[in-house]
Amino acid sequence: MATTGYEPYEGTKLERLERDAATAVARYPEPRSALLPLLHLVQSEDGYVSPDGIAFCARTLGLTTAEVSAVATFYTQYKRHPNGDYTVGVCTNTLCAVMGGDAIYEELSEHLGVGHDETTADGKITLERVECNAACDYAPVMMVNWEFFDNQTPATAKDVVDRLRAGDEVAPTRGAASVCSFKAMSRVLAGFSDGRADEGAGAGPATVAGTVLAREKGWTAPTMDGSSSADATETSNAPAAASTPQPGGAQSSVDTPAAPPAGGTSDTPTGRDASEEA
Ligand code: FES
Repeated sequence: MATTGYEPYEGTKLERLERDAATAVARYPEPRSALLPLLHLVQSEDGYVSPDGIAFCARTLGLTTAEVSAVATFYTQYKRHPNGDYTVGVCTNTLCAVMGGDAIYEELSEHLGVGHDETTADGKITLERVECNAACDYAPVMMVNWEFFDNQTPATAKDVVDRLRAGDEVAPTRGAASVCSFKAMSRVLAGFSDGRADEGAGAGPATVAGTVLAREKGWTAPTMDGSSSADATETSNAPAAASTPQPGGAQSSVDTPAAPPAGGTSDTPTGRDASEEA
């Protein structure tokens, strides 16, 4: 029989994993649906998805190790080799890149002496290029264990990693009061609350600027039946009839209704002009 060459979990570590895995599995109608949280769970123990972790997930969920590996290798949040205490992800997606994300990544890489998905020799920092974090309103953005560091520069980014490596408590620019370790964050992602979800504000003024403007102007989004939404109408100072975009009008994503063909009525279901059907 083939062997993995790795010692299996044992003792209190195994007991802890089995207890927590049972909690995660109980949240889903099918055991296999708990694979993603279980991968985070083993990552919270080992600092990465280890061969032991893959074997544990497979045995717990009735899957093959190939099936577990296929999922673990698909998502970049699952690490296939030991990760640092802090994953520092610099967004180099389009907007952040042109706002300075590329420069931040290059200077951090040189400062730390590591490249993408590499870890500093002290085991503290794993550097990554990351894709858009839906925080473009604060570009360029850097993430540390998925906490936001907004409006960064090469200098502020280097200061953050220096303080992390020195063991200082480091606060993100919004959200939790401080950054936790990669293992602690992995446990939260596995579905085990650390009680800090409500620390700080998740959205800042730039995040809600569009919503504030819409309320000031009395703009509302059309519903599927073309009427204004109750929430938007309640917060609007303008009469609903005047503020609700009409099909084909400004702010409406609904096609202009089909005009009846000359000498008859249109039954074109898509609402496109009858001439387009010819
Ligand atoms: S492009 Fe960086 S957060 Fe969206």
